[in-house]
Amino acid sequence: MPGTIAQELLRILAAQKASGKTCAWISPQNAQAFFYGNPARQPQQPVLQSQPQPPSPKPVAKPRPIVQPQPVAQPPAPKPEPVKIVPTGLVANLDWTELEAAALACKACPLYAGRKNLTFGCGCKQSKLMFIGEGPGEEEDRQGKPFVGRAGQLLTKMIAAMGLDRESQDPEKGCYIANIIKCRPPGNRNPSIEEGKACIQFLHRQIQLVNPKAIILLGAVPLNFLMGKRGITQARGNWLEYNGIPVMPTFHPAYLLRFEKSEDRFVQEKRKVWSDLQQVMALLNLKRPQTT
Ligand code: URA
Repeated sequence: MPGTIAQELLRILAAQKASGKTCAWISPQNAQAFFYGNPARQPQQPVLQSQPQPPSPKPVAKPRPIVQPQPVAQPPAPKPEPVKIVPTGLVANLDWTELEAAALACKACPLYAGRKNLTFGCGCKQSKLMFIGEGPGEEEDRQGKPFVGRAGQLLTKMIAAMGLDRESQDPEKGCYIANIIKCRPPGNRNPSIEEGKACIQFLHRQIQLVNPKAIILLGAVPLNFLMGKRGITQARGNWLEYNGIPVMPTFHPAYLLRFEKSEDRFVQEKRKVWSDLQQVMALLNLKRPQTT
């Protein structure tokens, strides 16, 4: 076992001298120990280097205090403008039954003519969480229920991973799912501005009736039509606000399915969505079940 640090240094230096070395480099810390005593004042710093390999002798210097770089204060990011919309006109004050009947009778855009069924919305109407997609696809149109096709199956799994059950009518367990438009556009194309504008009044009233504690927007279309924003890639993961309700934009499950065949990218994009969902889970105090 070595003795004091100074003794150990002497031993190393003597060994080096015996092997023919005529000079040796000592670190400032070791010099401190050698000339001024045990550097216990600096417990964090390494003191003994048994194999110093300097290019040339260096002058012994007193150790300087280490100055930690101070983080530069960043100005807070500007908060996006909260959206405030009070449903008026036709839908104002309608209850659930009246609202669905009004949507069924609506001919404000041509889409009603091509649909098989109205896809109004589904889930628990007292839920604390609402999902909003863009519009019904083929399977949704056939069943008259949102998110029941392939993208819907992935959404169902995402909901389960959040510790919720889309079929539950328990406000603590369930969620409510709706779309920007209620009738299927031909060929699953995105809704036009006119179609979106004509239909969104029903969604405004649905949100008012559910009065959720958080809303998750699935993809660019609801981000644009509900919040007047573009750019889902930048917006995702960042809280927005609609009528005082926190809104989390994330990618649409159909976007994720595009990468199904390239495992790495699929996992990468799913992780982004999962981190967005986790923010919502933290807000609503939801726990991921052990089994999913
Ligand atoms: N995609 C949507 O945005 N909504 C649905 O209901 C189904 C697929």
